[in-house]
Amino acid sequence: MEKTDILIVGSGISGLFFAIKMAKKRPDLSITILTKASADSTNTRYAQGGIAVVTNTEEDSFEQHIRDTLQAGGGSCNTEIVRMVVEQAPERLQELLNLQVDFDTTVSGAWDLGLEGGHSHHRILHYKDQSGLEMERKLLRQLSRYPNIVLFEDYFSIDLTTENNCCTGMSYYDKTRGTIKHIRSRITVLCTGGCGQLFQNTTNPEIATGDGVAMAFRAGAVIKDMQYIQFHPTALYETGKNPLFLLSEAVRGFGAYIINHNYERFLFKYDTRGELATRDIISKAIGTELLKTSEKHVYLDCRHLNAKRFYEHFPSITDYCLKSGFDPAKEPIPIVPAAHYQCGGIQVDKNARTSIQNLYAVGECAQTGLHGKNRLASNSLLEALVFAHQGMQSALKTIDSIRFSTVITLNQQPIASYSTTPSIKPLKALLQKTMTAFFTTEASDINTVRNTLKKLKQKADSLFQSHDRNSFPSYIEFRNMLTVSMILLEHSYSTPEIESFTTS
Ligand code: SIN
Repeated sequence: MEKTDILIVGSGISGLFFAIKMAKKRPDLSITILTKASADSTNTRYAQGGIAVVTNTEEDSFEQHIRDTLQAGGGSCNTEIVRMVVEQAPERLQELLNLQVDFDTTVSGAWDLGLEGGHSHHRILHYKDQSGLEMERKLLRQLSRYPNIVLFEDYFSIDLTTENNCCTGMSYYDKTRGTIKHIRSRITVLCTGGCGQLFQNTTNPEIATGDGVAMAFRAGAVIKDMQYIQFHPTALYETGKNPLFLLSEAVRGFGAYIINHNYERFLFKYDTRGELATRDIISKAIGTELLKTSEKHVYLDCRHLNAKRFYEHFPSITDYCLKSGFDPAKEPIPIVPAAHYQCGGIQVDKNARTSIQNLYAVGECAQTGLHGKNRLASNSLLEALVFAHQGMQSALKTIDSIRFSTVITLNQQPIASYSTTPSIKPLKALLQKTMTAFFTTEASDINTVRNTLKKLKQKADSLFQSHDRNSFPSYIEFRNMLTVSMILLEHSYSTPEIESFTTS
């Protein structure tokens, strides 16, 4: 594999939707998807809530979805982008349905629309509490219909290659063979997800290490608003776990309460919407409550809800809680806020184009202007679909005029000289502790954090000198985490209004 017309990095909803749409339009183009783990090890598969789309126009409207998105974003959304995304939603939804993706319906056959924080109407299409998983598996299943798409698992992207601010391909590590290689591409699309793994408490899986942002940054792309990390208020509190299990916002939409150790609903002191306020407000309120009480967690209370209906809606959540020793029907479930979503990222225009020519970014790794400071619940899968569509349309217009670079870099370089396995794990734990403290307490001073990151980099580099080929990806991943942490730090520094919200 030396060249491909279109190179897609990441196999979540953004990458798969882009690939399928492009393959349909242009069966003559070669489309390659590289993913660093197994095809379905993506953030997409963990999205429980669903996808926000205005389908019931008698009670709901585009204008209301736009207003809710803008309000959640705290004055930092791009209104034109918000309108484009909300208005395109029904069309993109229809495409998902055409790809055999299922969503729950009521007994009368209408969509069973869920409600989530910040939404003024029930408008979330969902598949039980496994919406992302349903999309991921149905889109993966579609790939076999397109012989011009190939997907490689366990291929770890290292760096983009550019000439005159034009992306020409990428170096990557083939884990199975233990070699670094280079692939040339005419168009490259980063769909690499977020960076929740920078934090101790996160709902994001292990693969969410900010690789796309780090690679784009090193290649010179504009990165924006990385300080806006969204914390989800209801992750299951389990000590020593990373990631933490998500208890979907849809559970609060279904009627669950958040209570403190005195079993009081305290959120109305912070916002009149109570449990249905947006995530930023609820996470901060929980943080304040924890500070006041010196407790480690608050609770999600589902005891008053109909247990049978609850199980029908939230089978995975119920099963997971029961397995962890909590019965949602009988006792309040301990919860904490956890890093959940990266609202900023690689800056793109309305066609998903980055500041580097022929390089696109779609999904959580991109900063589109939709989310502002705080994403409205269930707008992320929608954003992925809309920008995959926009990017694909734009790429269609230019692909025929783009030539492959004639420069071939780094091909077949073996890295067999690394002989001992370095221990990146404790370094990663220190990084997560440092970033969590910086983001969630007022005590952390930026220079101390900068120095810690620099020391971690030196330590990782020296470990890398005595490296084992099997641990090469963890080194690259850790290097990406350090790069993204540094960006986050610098972006936060220029945004002093960011408030601390929890000390856990
Ligand atoms: C959730 O189900 O609460 C997560 C969905 C989202 O992040 O929008």
